[in-house]
Amino acid sequence: MTEAVTADRSSAAPVVITTIAGMRAALAERRSGAEAPGPAEPVRVALVPTMGALHTGHVALVERAAEIADVVVVSIFVNPLQFTDPSDLERYPRDLEGDLAKLAGHGADIVFAPEVDELYPGGLTATRVTAGRVGGLFEGRSRPGHFDGVLTVVAKLLGSVGPDVVLFGQKDAQQVFLVQQMVTDLDMPVRVEVVETVRDYDELALSSRNRFLDERERRAAITLPHVLEAAESASDRGIDAVLAAAQSAAMGEQLVELDYLAIVHPDTFLPVDDGYTGKARVIIAAKVGDTRLIDNAAIYLGT
Ligand code: PAF
Repeated sequence: MTEAVTADRSSAAPVVITTIAGMRAALAERRSGAEAPGPAEPVRVALVPTMGALHTGHVALVERAAEIADVVVVSIFVNPLQFTDPSDLERYPRDLEGDLAKLAGHGADIVFAPEVDELYPGGLTATRVTAGRVGGLFEGRSRPGHFDGVLTVVAKLLGSVGPDVVLFGQKDAQQVFLVQQMVTDLDMPVRVEVVETVRDYDELALSSRNRFLDERERRAAITLPHVLEAAESASDRGIDAVLAAAQSAAMGEQLVELDYLAIVHPDTFLPVDDGYTGKARVIIAAKVGDTRLIDNAAIYLGT
């Protein structure tokens, strides 16, 4: 794949950079104004971290990044550190050429696509970011260490690219919470922007995992957004009503095996106390056939 140190925003296809040194050199060149002589304007850089297998949800992140930044970097790196099941890592779809085609014309300037050896030259790093208490709940309970792996690679990507803003999709609500927490706790000089979940025609949240669903499973998968809708419509009647409505919407579809359904506080990502009223988030994870799906929705809990 081509190594390039310049990015041409007007070109439809992003340039591909595979090394940290190349990435830093490309952005240093943009920031020093070498490409655009004239009064120096600060160059705003946005990073959209991905593991590839791009879909319309990723494209929405890239388009938003292009609205707010001068240079848009999309990282494509399947991070071994965040997989707890080796077969999951192995079957994770990898198609750089296909991903580049999907990005064309949407405002990505640079694709940062390092090999595993580039980001982890001495093997998986001994130094890791720990996600703390929330990292062990919900997604973290079924995948111990997953969020330490996510935060460690996000920290490395932020260190390699040095963006002003980093964008994530709301679908991965726990990941978003933990990245925001890391950025605050470690005083990282970057703003986290969250982009709303993009949904398919029947409200199923777009996910790279949807491709693993067969026809029956795909139909069954819309149970997840239905559960969220049921929760939202009961939200003015309080926590118990929300949980009862959501649980009853989750039952009855044999192909769907619920992992967790919870109402969390937006500030702590911990389950809300009994009697709580105010902003909250309903989160759900379920296995549909062999495929694990997650989704979430903001609600306002009334009495
Ligand atoms: O959400 C993802 O695709 C990954 O967890 C991320 C943030 C790119 C880190 O590998």
